[in-house]
Amino acid sequence: GLRVGSLLKETGHVTLDPGFTNTASTTSAITYIDGEAGILRYRGYPIEELAEKSSFLEVAYLLIYGELPTPAALEEFTDSVRKHTLLDEKFRAFFSAFPRRAHPMAVLSSAVSALSTFYQDSLDPFDPEQVDQSSIRLIAKLPTIAAYAYKTSNGQPLLYPDNSLGYVENFLRMTFGLPTQPYEIDPEIVRVLDMLFVLHADHEQNCSTSTVRLVGSSQANLFSSVSAGVDALFGPLHGGANQAVLEMLERIHENGDNIESFVERVKKKEPGVKLMGFGHRVYRNYDPRAAVVKKATSKVLGALGKSDPLLDLAMRLEEVALSDDYFVERKLYPNVDFYTGVIYKAMGFPTNAFTVLFALGRLPGWIAQWREMMNDSTTKIGRPRQVYVGPGERHYVDPSAR
Ligand code: ACO
Repeated sequence: GLRVGSLLKETGHVTLDPGFTNTASTTSAITYIDGEAGILRYRGYPIEELAEKSSFLEVAYLLIYGELPTPAALEEFTDSVRKHTLLDEKFRAFFSAFPRRAHPMAVLSSAVSALSTFYQDSLDPFDPEQVDQSSIRLIAKLPTIAAYAYKTSNGQPLLYPDNSLGYVENFLRMTFGLPTQPYEIDPEIVRVLDMLFVLHADHEQNCSTSTVRLVGSSQANLFSSVSAGVDALFGPLHGGANQAVLEMLERIHENGDNIESFVERVKKKEPGVKLMGFGHRVYRNYDPRAAVVKKATSKVLGALGKSDPLLDLAMRLEEVALSDDYFVERKLYPNVDFYTGVIYKAMGFPTNAFTVLFALGRLPGWIAQWREMMNDSTTKIGRPRQVYVGPGERHYVDPSAR
């Protein structure tokens, strides 16, 4: 691939590959996907093993530094994260300026971008100490920012982080807690949310990660690059799909659970009608993350003492789709977003907060990929070519003559 690139340059040819379906933008040693076989590994470790045995901060360390941490290294990493969870008081005030009905992803991306204004000591993308510091700050502060984005949308007071708590516990308390009453942390919710963060932690050169790399390739700092990643994740074809799936299930449910008529509309390709949470650019098989989430969903609902007709609906919808030629021929299977929404809903998150949870999970991947790029001496500014199809040369016409 690398040689072909240089040959093309020499001969003046340009490849046209809309959506980059077949063009690698980089080499990477972080995440391996075999889309045909449905395999996903972080730094060589199968996602199923990490989901079962590891924890989010351990996986963050693995993605960023390349190896599983020793117990001492993990403690040190966790401690540094814990020390940086607070936001500057002026930063807290920043949230009050957003309108009450602001989408939490819009608040999240603005706030991550604003980190550059508060931490000007961390803006040199080539200083390893600063990059470590910015990485820790991002991992530590994103749950605080995400919880405040949620509080902004419901008008409740902001809570300070409680650093005696674990990463996910702290996030849950800042999100759902109130200053006037103690918040009971459900260990089952903590365990499952941590596992969902692990499942989302990296996915090689997806849309948001490629965005983070592209912005970073201009030598923009880590905060600015990651805030661009949050924006890319917002879209319903990417991270926004978890919100779109739940809205789709709700619409089908309101419509008398008529799965068949919905699937017919999808197959007719009615504008804007897709089976959300299905299909993937790389997986032509069951998304291994979706398999883990699907297994967890009924267990979680059971443990939380909740039932949701949308879970049955989702399972029946999957069954109908997987036995329908339209989906079989196109190798469309559930992706990670198909079942996550049902779990997030059972945990008490409103639908428009779902994509923020995806962003919290994906953060270590964005950081690891940005760092890999900045440390690679072959990195160049990302600058795709185009094939021009507009008019040939023509000359300015005076307004009175048009
Ligand atoms: N519902 C119905 N048809 C679909 C779907 C779907 N969800 N996904 C793909 N198709 C069809 C396309 O219409 C196309 O059909 P055609 O060959 O008759 O034209 C064929 O399958 C191939 O699809 P493409 O759009 O070419 O696949 P692409 O790789 O470009 O898109 C994507 C991948 C964006 C994920 C797509 O499958 C989709 O829109 N899915 C729904 C949104 C979604 O769930 N996104 C989350 C992705 S995973 C993530 O970010 C965590």
